[in-house]
Amino acid sequence: MSKVVVANDHGAVELTARIVDYLRQRGFEVNYLGTAENKSVDYPDMAELACTEFKKGGYEFGVLCCGTGIGISISANKIKGIRCALPQNCFAAKMAKEHNAANFIAFGGRIDYQEDVLDMVAAYVDAEISQDERHARRRAKMMFLEN
Ligand code: RB5
Repeated sequence: MSKVVVANDHGAVELTARIVDYLRQRGFEVNYLGTAENKSVDYPDMAELACTEFKKGGYEFGVLCCGTGIGISISANKIKGIRCALPQNCFAAKMAKEHNAANFIAFGGRIDYQEDVLDMVAAYVDAEISQDERHARRRAKMMFLEN
């Protein structure tokens, strides 16, 4: 069974619960790290928790949510090896996997999306990483920027 790690701050408790349910319905084993409460937590801490867990290995991808998705995705992208996308619609979610090989996707619990976040999660999950040379080259250059 494919494993997914999920974490959020207090700004996205309900949205994250929907995503966790959806992923479980789709057959993923979800390691949910919280927070399931509305008590304030700091999004960099939640990003670090999930990314550290992801880097232990065995996970297909991760999902991070905060109020906007911005703080938690920026935080995740500070961690070596993490490529966290913040898709605004299904097209971007699909491209995040195909072109960027994003290993995390982020969403905002306080964002009024034009498309359902669960459709965006589906678009990401169902996409395949492009093996096209130009995309592989760009991904390698992107990761080289970490150094
Ligand atoms: C927390 O209030 C809020 O700043 C956080 O959820 C997120 O929106 C940050 O980017």
